[in-house]
Parts: sequence; C-alpha cells; structure tokens
Amino acid sequence: MRIESPRGTDDLLRDQTKTWQYIEKTLRDLCEIYHFNEIRTPIFEHTEVFQRGVGESTDIVQKEMYTFLDRGERSVTLRPEGTAGVARAYIENKLYGEVNQPIKVYYNGPMFRYERQQEGRRRQFHQFGVEALGSEDPAIDAEVIALAMGIYERLEIKKIKLVINSLGDIESRKKHREALINHFTPHLDELCTDCQTRLSQNPLRVLDCKTDMDHPAMKTAPEILDFLNDSSAQYFEEVKQYLDAMEIQYEIDPTLVRGLDYYNHTTFEIMGTAEGFGAHSTLLGGGRYDGLIEQFGGPRTPGVGFALGMERLLLALEHEKIQLPLNDELDIYVVAIGDAVAKEAVRLTYELRKAGFKVDKDYQKRGVKAQFKSANRLDTKFVVIIGEEEMNKGTVKLRSMEDREEKEINTEELVTLLQEKLGGNEHD
Ligand code: HAM
Repeated sequence: MRIESPRGTDDLLRDQTKTWQYIEKTLRDLCEIYHFNEIRTPIFEHTEVFQRGVGESTDIVQKEMYTFLDRGERSVTLRPEGTAGVARAYIENKLYGEVNQPIKVYYNGPMFRYERQQEGRRRQFHQFGVEALGSEDPAIDAEVIALAMGIYERLEIKKIKLVINSLGDIESRKKHREALINHFTPHLDELCTDCQTRLSQNPLRVLDCKTDMDHPAMKTAPEILDFLNDSSAQYFEEVKQYLDAMEIQYEIDPTLVRGLDYYNHTTFEIMGTAEGFGAHSTLLGGGRYDGLIEQFGGPRTPGVGFALGMERLLLALEHEKIQLPLNDELDIYVVAIGDAVAKEAVRLTYELRKAGFKVDKDYQKRGVKAQFKSANRLDTKFVVIIGEEEMNKGTVKLRSMEDREEKEINTEELVTLLQEKLGGNEHD
C-alpha cells in the first residue's frame, strides 16, 4: 500500500511553516492597521451557499466543488472561496444591526477546488482575504485596494501590476449582456459547448473562456466600460480618483471579468510580473458585490473585498529571491554531563522555559561532544552546562556561543543573568 497525500494538496514542513507564519503575521498586522478584524467561518457550508453565492454559471460551481452528502443526507461543500461564507455569517449573526458600519473583516485558511493541479494551482490552497460590508462609498473600494497593494509592499515584492475594471450596476450590465448576446450569437456554432450555455446563462463568462480565447470574435467583443450608465461611470471615476490621491498605480483593463458571478462595479486583480510566472500569475483578485447579501435573503447591503492565494504569494517571493527575516535561533541549549544530572537538566530546562526563553536539550542520551554539535547546528546563543560537580555546588557553566566565553555561576542567578544578556523585555 502506498500512502500519500491526495493530488493537489501539500504538507507544509518546518521550513515552510516558518515562512507562512511570518507572512500571516505581516498580513494580520496590516489588516489591524486598516482596522479589519478577523472572522473565522466554517470550512464547509450547505452547498446552496456557494451555488447561489458564487453562481451557477461559474466553473467553480459547475466543475470544481468538493460536494458530498453527509451522514444526515445533507449536501455540504468544502468552501471553494471565502466571500459567500462571510456573507452568510453576516446575515446569520445580524451584523447589519451593528452600529459601526461597514463591518470590516479578514480571514485566512484553506479553500478547496477540484482543479487540474499544477504549480500555483492546488486543490487545497490557502486564501487570505478581506471583506468590507455595509458601505457603497468608492473610498472603501480604494481602501481595500490600498490594503491589497500594501501586502506586497510590506513583503518587498516589487514585480506586480494592479489592473482594475468596472462591471457597472445592474442596468449597465444588462445592456452589456444584450450586446454580448448579439455579438456572439452569429458565432455560436464556432464556440465551445461551455460557451454555448454560458451565452444564455451569463454571457460575461464567455469573455473568460480559455478554450475560445483566440476566437476573432473575442477581440471585437463589446466592452463593459462603453456600457456604463452615468452613475456607474461616476462611481468608477471616484474609485480612480481615490487611488490617484494615494498615488497607487493601476492599469485599466476593460476585459477583466472575474471568475465569480457576484461582482458589480469595481473589479481588480494583482498580477505577478516576475519571470517564471506561467499561466497562474494572478496573485490576488477582488471587487464589489452589492447584490450578494440580498440574494441570500438579507437586507440590501453593499460589499467589497479581495482574496489572495498564499501559495502564489510564496511563488512571488521565490521568483524575486526575497529572503524573509525569519528568526530561527534558539536562546539556550542545556548540555547535561552524565546520567546523575538528568533530573537537574530537566528541571533547569523547565525553569528557563517558564522564564520565557526558547530552550532545548538532548533526548538521545548523546555524549557531551554530540550535544555541543547539536547546540551549534541549532544556532544557539547560549549553552548551559551541568555536570555532577557543578550540581553539587549549586552552579552551572554558561557559555556564550558567540564569543565562546564560559563562566561558572550560581544556578539561582542564571535566569536574571540571561535576562540581562538576552534582553529581559522580550522574555517577560
Ligand atoms: P478568486 O479570484 O477565485 O477570488 O481567488 C482569489 C485568489 O485565490 C486567486 O487570485 C489566486 O491567487 C488564489 N487561487 C484561486 N484558486 C486557486 C488554486 N486552485 N490554487 C492556488 N491558488 C488559487 C475569490 O475567491 C473571491 N472570493 C475574492 C473576493 C473576496 N472577492 C471579493 N471578496
């Protein structure tokens, strides 16, 4: 029997989790600065949440969901994205009733899509996302975009490009939809079978088709920006003005249609432009979804947000060869000489850990030389050496691994001395 992880999933081992934790902390800190709070919603939801939220005509709902019947014969789905669950939670917890609006949340966790696996495209992947619910001020669109751009700035990822578009309001979309149907209908036979159904279900999806992307009719397809009514055009204008005010560079891409159905007005993506990015260079995607909460039966509530793929963020760091300042040092390694000091070594390790130091010791019953070797390998700042003689005197030897200086001190003074040397505050 070969036991291996399911296709498209990954184990994250020590080297990776250090990096992930660093990135997650950076992202959380930035969200706090923008005054977003964390929300945690279930990893599975009733299938309907995504069918209705993400949209029946999307690839996600049609081909990619991990849907199954639970033991109570209810259809549940592993979340393929975060927005629909957040919208469901917003209604269920009556967050629309809170005084401070908009409700600004962020989330971080695994998402599941049954896709053809390749680099940067996993079946279990991780999204970090934000949602702001309850405001239709274009300034909040700009804020969410500024936060998105801030992530890459903080991590010093430079090779990125922000593209924005507007899908307008319902009226604008309706006109554009009619124009798309008129444009593509004469070519219906030449389009793939998916697009043939897309054209009646949601013609905007046709523009996103990978199979037909080189069809000549694609290049001449009517563009949404030409169909925006006055208020939608004005809205888009204001978003751009706010971005300009913050000196955030962007490109307008009138062909940017996102892969989910809930968007209106502003949509945006951040692409990785470093060499080495193949087809999956979209690092982050988002936009406004003013109809979603109402569609779920909640009160009319506008919303805007984005999600980024953690795996793709890591690829961007790799492509730009960015070394994150990961702290992997050990404060202290306790070296025990002989069996007689075994208990004292355990006691001392425990005491040092209680004082807040990062400490380890040997558990392989190795000799002194091998213990020192471990201390070296583990990048230790100090080694505490306990022998029988010292133990009986109530002392230990403290060796600085930096300057190799060693001195004998009273065990009782060890914590205070180390606090002085390693900076007490960090270890309070
Ligand atoms: P999305 O464009 O489907 O949007 O996904 C956002 C990001 O998740 C993508 O840009 C990509 O980086 C990452 N991603 C998606 N699928 C995969 C995959 N199979 N493997 C690795 N990474 C992947 C959403 O999910 C929306 N909920 C975003 C949003 C939030 N819009 C408004 N609020």
